[in-house]
Parts: sequence; C-alpha cells; structure tokens
Amino acid sequence: MPATVIVGLQWGDEGKGKTTDFLAEQVAMVVRYQGGDNAGHTVVAGTETFKLQLCPSGVLYPHITSVIGNGVVVNPATLIAELEMLAARGIDVSKVRVSRSAHVIMPYHVALDRANEGRLGGARVGTTGRGIGPTYGDRAWRLGLRMEDLLDREVLRERIARALPDKNLLLEAMGAPGFTVDELVDQAAAWGERLAQHFDDSTWLVQDALRRGDHVLLEGAQGTLLDLDHGSYPFVTSSNPVAGGACTGGGIGPLQVDEVIGVMKAYSTRVGSGPFPTELFDDVGRGIAERGHEFGTVTGRPRRVGWFDTVPLRYAVAVNSNSAIVLNKLDILSGIKTIRLCVAYEIDGKRVETWPSSGSALSRATPIYEDFEGWEQPIHDVRSLGDLPEAARRYVAALEEHAGVPIVFVSVGPERTQTIERAWRPMRHRPTMPA
Ligand code: IMP
Repeated sequence: MPATVIVGLQWGDEGKGKTTDFLAEQVAMVVRYQGGDNAGHTVVAGTETFKLQLCPSGVLYPHITSVIGNGVVVNPATLIAELEMLAARGIDVSKVRVSRSAHVIMPYHVALDRANEGRLGGARVGTTGRGIGPTYGDRAWRLGLRMEDLLDREVLRERIARALPDKNLLLEAMGAPGFTVDELVDQAAAWGERLAQHFDDSTWLVQDALRRGDHVLLEGAQGTLLDLDHGSYPFVTSSNPVAGGACTGGGIGPLQVDEVIGVMKAYSTRVGSGPFPTELFDDVGRGIAERGHEFGTVTGRPRRVGWFDTVPLRYAVAVNSNSAIVLNKLDILSGIKTIRLCVAYEIDGKRVETWPSSGSALSRATPIYEDFEGWEQPIHDVRSLGDLPEAARRYVAALEEHAGVPIVFVSVGPERTQTIERAWRPMRHRPTMPA
C-alpha cells in the first residue's frame, strides 16, 4: 500500500507540479490535501503548458483518479472553469473526484479576504485574494458550507442565512458591498448541480486504493514555510502544507505514508509579505527572476527572489520527515559567477543555525553565507549528475549535506525529460498481519 507525499520545502512555487507529473506515470491516484485556488501548478506536457489551480497535476493522465481531498477549500466557480478548460483541451475529467466534506469558498469569503487586506494596509499578508483564510476560519468556527451542502437548497438556505448577517456587517464596516441570501442560494445550488457527478467520499476512495495496493500520491500545495503552524506567522497561508496535512486533509493515517518527497528550488522565492532573510534586491536577483519566470501562476505578481537558505531547509526536513528530495531549477543558476548559500543567521550578535519559531527574531536575522564558485555553461541537456559541471556538483552536494536526505531528482529544465534521475531509494515496506 504505497502512499507517497509530495511537499514543498520552501515558500511554495518549488515546482511540485512537475514532480507530481513526473511520478504520475507510476501511480493510480493523486490527491490534493490542502489549500485551494491560491495554488497554481504549471505542468508542461510535450508542447503544451497547463496551469492548474485545483485539480491535482495527475489529471493529465487518463489512468489516474484525481482526488480533491477533504482538507481542500474549493471555489466551485474556479473548479468548473478548470474542468471546462481541461475538457476543451481533450483531457478526460470524468475521474476527477471531489470530497463531499471539502469546504466551499463562498463569494463573501473572497470579498472579506480582499477587504481585510485593503484595511491592513502596510501590515497586509499579501494573500492571493481567493478567500482562503476566511473559508478556513469559518470551517474552524463551524460556520462553513461543505460541498455536499450544495446539493440541498434547504440546507443551503439555512446555513447561508445563519452566516450571512455577520459577513455583511463586516463587509459594510470595511466599505465593501454585501450579498443577499437568495442570490447566494441560487448560485450555490447551480454549482452543486454542475459538480454533483464529481462528488465522492474521498477518504474511502483513498483507503480502498491503498487496500488494493495501488500507489497513491498526495500532493501538497504552497510550502512548509507558509504552513499555518510552522511558517512565519502571520505571513502564512491558512492550512497545513506539511506532510502531516496529508493525513488530516487526504484521509490517511501516519503509518500509511511510505515516502515523503520534499521539493525545493536551487534558490528561494517568496510571494507576499513576511521575513525573507536571503532576499536579493540586485541585478543577480532580477536575473534569476527573469530566467526562472518567477511570476505568480495565480496572481501574476512578481515573486521575491533570494539565495538558497539552509536554515529553514533543515527545519522543513525535520517537520516533514522527508525521505527524499527533488531539486528543481538548477539550470537557472548557470552563468552566475558566485553562488551564495545561507548556512546560518546572525541574530542579535549571535550565530543561529536553527530556524527561529519567533517571527520577530526572524525579522532581525542577517544571513551568514558560504560562497560557491558558479558555472558558465548551460546544463539543460545534462541527464546524469556526473555530467554536470564540477561547480554545480559541489553546490548540489552541499545542499544534500545540509538536508541530510538524498536528492533523488535534479531538474535542469521545465520539460519532463529535462530531469537528472539518481538511484531511487526502495520504498519502506511494512510487515503484513501475522497469519
Ligand atoms: P492566501 O493563501 O491567499 O491566504 O495567502 C497567504 C500567503 O500565502 C501569501 O503570502 C501568499 O502569497 C502565499 N501563497 C498562497 N498560495 C501560494 C502559492 O501557491 N505559492 C506561493 N505563495 C502562496
């Protein structure tokens, strides 16, 4: 019963889509377990580029069941548009299954997210404006709507009528227009009608697949440093992208996870506000952003760019219990004379090697760098680690040493084939029941 979790080790946008897509040929099911349409996965298949926000990246393969798990928050309008886009491009979407328990992002959640960011001014989080925080907030406050509720107009009316007065009061206080119960019930019921054929009990889908011995991939969105618990709060998203989130949001138990693959880029990026000790403001940073196409898939915002930081890497590997790492976008660093690697911070005059849980300590951190000689030549066509320039090999070896976990794939370009594969560690197999 192999279950593999794919998790971002940085601030999201590490290229998890490409990794999932690369492994997808071997798996029967891919499950999204948290986040919503704040995520953007770019997958390049042959000459075609697909930008996905809700469907797991495995949707491009006809043999894969794509599951949107209970831990995801779903904007039905985005999902419908995505299903229609995929169908129009010849992709079979009949195997896209959506948890009946996943929470619904309602129009008032989106409006509240945007109005609140406006109100916060300079203190804003820089959210994607997709209503993610307010939806998870309502889920925790037991005020949310779940996908199954879209199938029953009575339930919809009752739940919306209960929640809406407070939402409208807040929106009005923030100078934004409110909503009426009738318009929301009509819209939600229409979504339910359109999506009903995709609804399922996602936990049993996943459990049955594992029982059959199918390989299930659980795909994280965002990254460890945006995790609600482990990131630099409050500059985080409202879910748990860490591997533990795959259990609560994907419907599996911790002992059902065989592999936790961490995905990271050869440098750092961050979208939105919050501390970013290794951030670059110079031409080197601008060059990386340009070559790496570092613009948000969802918002189009330019991403902040910086040197690789091993301090949060060591933290991320610990909290995710990674068994393997995928290193993406090594090719983007070609042509840089000196590559800097942050190995520790200086905080209040002291050397600190552990990721500080205090946001204020992190905002006072100055990076301590180790410098690596760069390499000139492009590496897009390299397919084995031994063929990389020596300087690139030294950099990869340093990252691996800091992680303490083998780097199993190195990506040298956006296409599936532009990947260096190293020996794959055998999966851990658990003992079966005694006879
Ligand atoms: P939210 O998830 O829209 O509430 O945004 C909270 C924070 O997470 C902001 O800093 C966003 O820029 C960031 N964020 C959310 N989704 C992604 C993503 O897919 N990639 C990178 N950053 C993200």
